[in-house]
Amino acid sequence: MDNRPIGVFDSGLGGLTGVRELRKQLPGEDIVYFGDTGRVPYGSRSHETILQYARQDIAFLLSQNVKCIMAACGTVSSTYPAEEAAQLPVPYLGVVTAAARRAARATRSRKIGVIGTAATIRSHSYEQLLRRLVPGAEITARPCPLFVPLVESGYVDGSAPDRQQVTRLVIAQYLEEIRAAGVDTLVLGCTHYPLLAGMIGEYMGPSVTLIDPGSAAADDLSQLLSSKGLRANRTQGTTHFFVSDVPDSFVQTADLFLGEYRGGTAEQICIDKY
Ligand code: DGL
Repeated sequence: MDNRPIGVFDSGLGGLTGVRELRKQLPGEDIVYFGDTGRVPYGSRSHETILQYARQDIAFLLSQNVKCIMAACGTVSSTYPAEEAAQLPVPYLGVVTAAARRAARATRSRKIGVIGTAATIRSHSYEQLLRRLVPGAEITARPCPLFVPLVESGYVDGSAPDRQQVTRLVIAQYLEEIRAAGVDTLVLGCTHYPLLAGMIGEYMGPSVTLIDPGSAAADDLSQLLSSKGLRANRTQGTTHFFVSDVPDSFVQTADLFLGEYRGGTAEQICIDKY
C-alpha cells in the first residue's frame, strides 16, 4: 500500500485525457499533474529539446514525492530513452508501450495505422515496438500536425456542425492513405486525438479499432501498481494541477480533456528551476 500520488505529465493540457482514464480506473489514487503550458507544443521540436524538457518535467514530479510517473505525452514517450527511465527512483510508464501492446492484441490482419505528432512519427517508436510485437506487421504511419490546434480551438467531436465540417476535411486529407492501406487498427498516438475519435471512427469505418493511448496506459499503470503493492487504500483521491504558464484559461480548456472529471485550480511553477 502506498498513498503517495501518481505523477502524470504532458507538454500541455492534452495529457488530461490520460488523467480522465486514471480517475475512472483508479478513483482512490491522488494524482499530481504537470502540464508544460509555457513550452507547448513539443511535437514540432528537436529530439534534444524534447529530451531536456522531459527531464525537467520528471524532476519536478519527483520533487512532489510521487510513487510512479506516467508520461501521458506521445511525443515524450517516443523520445525519452528506456535506459534512462530504468534509472529513475520510481517506476516510469510511457503511453507508447501501452498503446502498442493494446494495438498488437487488437489487430487481426496485422495491418496497423499510427498517427501522431511530427516528432512521434519521425522517431519510429511505434513501428519499432509493433514490429517486435506483431511479426510481419504492415504499418502505415503519418503525422497529423493540424489535429492539435483544431482540438485546442474546440473543433472536436460534438462541437458545432460547421466546426466539425472543417475537422472532417482535415481528417479525410490526413487519413486517406491509412484508410486505403486497409488497416484494421489505428493508434491515436497523441494526447489530443481521442477528442476526435468519433469523427476519425466515422471516416475509418466501424471495422477499424481505434487505440486510445491514455486508456491503455491507465490499464497498464493500474496493473503495475497492483503488482508492486503500490495501490492507495482510500476510496476517493484528489488531483492537483500544475502548469508552467499563467493558469487563467486552465479550467475551461482542461474540462474539454477531462470530460466528466472536472478540473479545478492550477498552480503555476517555474519549470526552468528543475
Ligand atoms: N502532447 C503531445 C503529444 O501527445 C501533443 C501536443 C504537443 O505537440 O506538444 O504528442
